[in-house]
Amino acid sequence: MSRTNPPPRRRRRALLTAGALAATALGTGGMMQGTASAADFACEVDYSANDWGSGFTANLSITNTGSTATNGWTLTYSYAGNQRLSQGWNGQWSQSGQTVTVRDTGWNGAIAPNATVSTGANFTYSGTNAAPTSFAVNGVTCGEDGGGPGPGPGPDPDPPGDRVDNPYEDAGVYVNPDWSANAASEPGGSAIADEPTAVWLDRRAAITGGSAGNSTGLREHLDNALVQAEEHENFVFQVVVYNLPGRDCAALASNGELAADEIDVYKEEFIDPIADILGDPAYSDLRIVTIIEIDSLPNLITNVSPRETATENCDEMLANGHYQEGISYALATLGDIPNVYNYVDAGHYGWIGWDDNFGASAELFHETATMNGATVDDVAGFIVNTANYGPTVEPHYTINDSVNGTSVRQSDWVDWNRYVDNQSFALGFRDELVRQGFNSEIGMLIDTSRNGWGGPDRPAGPGPRTDVNAYVEGSRIDGRYQAGNWCNQEGAGLGERPTASPVPNIDAYAWIKPPGESDGASREIPNPEGKGFDRMCDPTYEGNPRNGYNMSGALPDAPLSGHWFSAQFQELLANAHPPL
Ligand code: BGC
Repeated sequence: MSRTNPPPRRRRRALLTAGALAATALGTGGMMQGTASAADFACEVDYSANDWGSGFTANLSITNTGSTATNGWTLTYSYAGNQRLSQGWNGQWSQSGQTVTVRDTGWNGAIAPNATVSTGANFTYSGTNAAPTSFAVNGVTCGEDGGGPGPGPGPDPDPPGDRVDNPYEDAGVYVNPDWSANAASEPGGSAIADEPTAVWLDRRAAITGGSAGNSTGLREHLDNALVQAEEHENFVFQVVVYNLPGRDCAALASNGELAADEIDVYKEEFIDPIADILGDPAYSDLRIVTIIEIDSLPNLITNVSPRETATENCDEMLANGHYQEGISYALATLGDIPNVYNYVDAGHYGWIGWDDNFGASAELFHETATMNGATVDDVAGFIVNTANYGPTVEPHYTINDSVNGTSVRQSDWVDWNRYVDNQSFALGFRDELVRQGFNSEIGMLIDTSRNGWGGPDRPAGPGPRTDVNAYVEGSRIDGRYQAGNWCNQEGAGLGERPTASPVPNIDAYAWIKPPGESDGASREIPNPEGKGFDRMCDPTYEGNPRNGYNMSGALPDAPLSGHWFSAQFQELLANAHPPL
């Protein structure tokens, strides 16, 4: 891509549109629906178990100790062990991780003041079977055995935290042998073939492996990791969890195998089997970093009606709630494994950095992380720039610069964003997430695999201070036509090598997108992976509202997303910064 003679840029309008924030259209989650108002509701729950060593029958009764009849009820409580629901009655029973949810059957939804309803279920377990200590009905904590309503532990007490603050600290990180072999087979590739990259679980078949494109399964990777870990005191295994129903709703290149309504398949055939493997005690000494569902939640803020950037698929995924349900389920289920560190994908500065998107995204993240049994303790942190190209740091200008009294925010490139790079965004967004209720210990990751922007076109210093556009154009190392461009970007280079704790509150620079794996095909290629053809990967495409109608900047002749793209790998090596 030529930096010196870019095509005329049209102003990006869509991301600035102050449309109704998507978050306000969201439901509140199942808990409070169809109930008497929480204010005058109070309850007691009586729990007993008939235990035969490897299983038990739980009998529960709910008494309405308030003054208003319920119009539907939802009971939640948690076990501390591995109790597994087999079958329930007189209620709709479900389990997510250690959290059990029982909804009324319809016919027993009304509980008059002082009346009691009973429900029960069979469970299996091994080890110990401690009785649950706290119950909530319709989100109100209940008293037990005649005690009044009172404070108690939340519905999902996490296992006693032996998690460290930053899993990357003093730790080796898993080198994926599949990627490493591809890299090493390229001229010059051996310079980076021993860098750690993430394992992607991008379809059910990737869990077991053994099929084309997924040769190594999850267990085999973890077994490899145990061997690599022998050289290190601590060891991180990075795995991307990426298979939501209706995946990649604003684009086509990474559409997945699950249809928009296949949330149960996602839970039962994707998350549960992953949790079974990650929870195997054989792997309990690994620090397992999970990267949760790239691009999904941000899409529900920025690419939904009434914004100009809306897509039908994102509208559908917002309306059906399956992104949030899937992510909360993944967080709760994986978060129950004490050595798993969940990092939720938070987009990147050139997407969420605008005021319209920033607070609304953090709010949606918090809502999602606290529904269906997930809690903020299930979230170790967030990752920005996954599989994207935005610089970690723009070295030659900052958001606070101005030229002749005009702020760089008014330049065409920055276009009123609050950030000019991903590190400042990650730190700013972290503060907002904590403000919304996430733990103050959360850490951020930045995917630096392809955001180096070295090579001959990289500016050596700031641009001329003649006017704000000349200054920004001359300064910026980001060589894209527009910060919304995401597919196989021409001119990009490898970024910072994976590093632990580069600055406070950034847990690591990590290579999550394996460099050399395509972002999407540049023309239509029939395939059995569910992947579509997105014209953002076509170098002749002149854009859409999501990139402000700019050229795509994509390399030609790219294969399907995830497939090896030798020409891109070579360019990433050539334009690496820091140089190799
Ligand atoms: C693809 C995945 C692939 C991943 C890593 C994504 O764009 O959709 O199939 O595993 O990139 O290369």
